Amino acid sequence: MRTLADGTEALSYGDTSYRIPVGGARELAELARAFNRMMDRVAEKDCESVAFQNELERLNATLEEQVRERTRALEESEVQYRTLVEHSPDPILIVQNETVKFFSKAFQETFGVTAEEVEDPNFRLESLFAEDCQSVVANRLKLWQRGKVMSPAMVTAYDSAGRPRELELRGSRIDYLGQSATECLLVDMTETQRLREELEDTQRLRALGELSSGVAHDFNNLLGAILGRIQLLRKRGFSPDIDGEMAVIEKAAQDGRETVRRIQEFSRTRTDRPFEPLSLPEIIDDAVEITRGRWKTESERRNVKLKIAVECDKVPAILGSATELREVFTNLILNAVDAMPQGGSLKLRCFRRGSEVHAEIEDTGVGMTEEIRRHLFDPFFTTKGNSGTGL
Ligand SMILES: Nc1ncnc2c1ncn2[C@@H]1O[C@H](COP(=O)(O)OP(=O)(O)OP(=O)(O)O)[C@@H](O)[C@H]1O
Ligand SMILES: [Mg+2]
Repeated sequence: MRTLADGTEALSYGDTSYRIPVGGARELAELARAFNRMMDRVAEKDCESVAFQNELERLNATLEEQVRERTRALEESEVQYRTLVEHSPDPILIVQNETVKFFSKAFQETFGVTAEEVEDPNFRLESLFAEDCQSVVANRLKLWQRGKVMSPAMVTAYDSAGRPRELELRGSRIDYLGQSATECLLVDMTETQRLREELEDTQRLRALGELSSGVAHDFNNLLGAILGRIQLLRKRGFSPDIDGEMAVIEKAAQDGRETVRRIQEFSRTRTDRPFEPLSLPEIIDDAVEITRGRWKTESERRNVKLKIAVECDKVPAILGSATELREVFTNLILNAVDAMPQGGSLKLRCFRRGSEVHAEIEDTGVGMTEEIRRHLFDPFFTTKGNSGTGL
């Protein structure tokens, strides 16, 4: 009984090695055997529990490693997505119930808005668009959020410098923080639109060129007939007042021919004259000489001062058509004179930049609006009414 008590005590301290010598009275021997069996089982369980503990620790360690691995993968994919979104040149947004929840850097840069402005609860995305586009934007955002599939909308917005930009607004429904929202992409189509318009212009110009060369040819014949007849008639000798009227007809027909010549010049294919080496300063001097009469009489007639200065560096010869270039500079000078009805000064410069020869012309006249600038090279575009041909 004593050793049983000691064994129980030892077990209470975790010692499972204690065994009782079996002997003595039968019941006592039975009890000792039972005690020993129990101790065997406890020792066995102890071993199992240690193994289990070890396995648990091992799993714990790999679990930590797995969690670290997953976290790294998650961070990596987050960085990839962030880089993609932040480096997209087209603004990306998430809008939920009229509030901008997310915006990319390109959005701020395109519209010149600060993060605080956009994060303000009163900020409305549509306020960045031209007035006539605002309802389109608001509507699309709502419909996209409801899951409606709709084609992109072309809208106008003003960039940070206040210039109008043509944007394609694309959107689709997404889940954002457990609620539906709209993901928006704004693609700047300004340049594409401009190129498209330019292409249309070129096609229009080609058609115009073909048409005008046909018309010019017919007009030339008609004016030739009028001029020929009037010159013959005038030789017959009429009274001065009738001859005066005839002179007006002759002058008008001559002016007409001059206009026809310019139309023909414009629509003529430019490959018929071979290029020759020529000096740009000489061409510029020639053009100033050719137009001297015109700007002198103009300034005297209007009683204003017109100053012309030519500053040409020594430049290498260039290849071109002297006649055509003289005409270019003559027209530029005449345009400048027309643009300075109150007088002013005109500067012509030519200089070398690397392998190029540059020419610059500058006047202190009325200048051009953006609209005029856009149509400057369109044939027949003029702001001078009947006195200009726009050629
Ligand atoms: N130096 C300038 N300053 C201001 N506007 C100009 C100048 N040069 C051209 N323009 C504008 O561009 C338009 C087109 O010029 P373009 O020379 O093609 O035709 P035009 O001068 O009107 O007619 P034309 O040359 O037959 O007299 C002009 O009507 C004018 O509005
Ligand atoms: Mg002109």
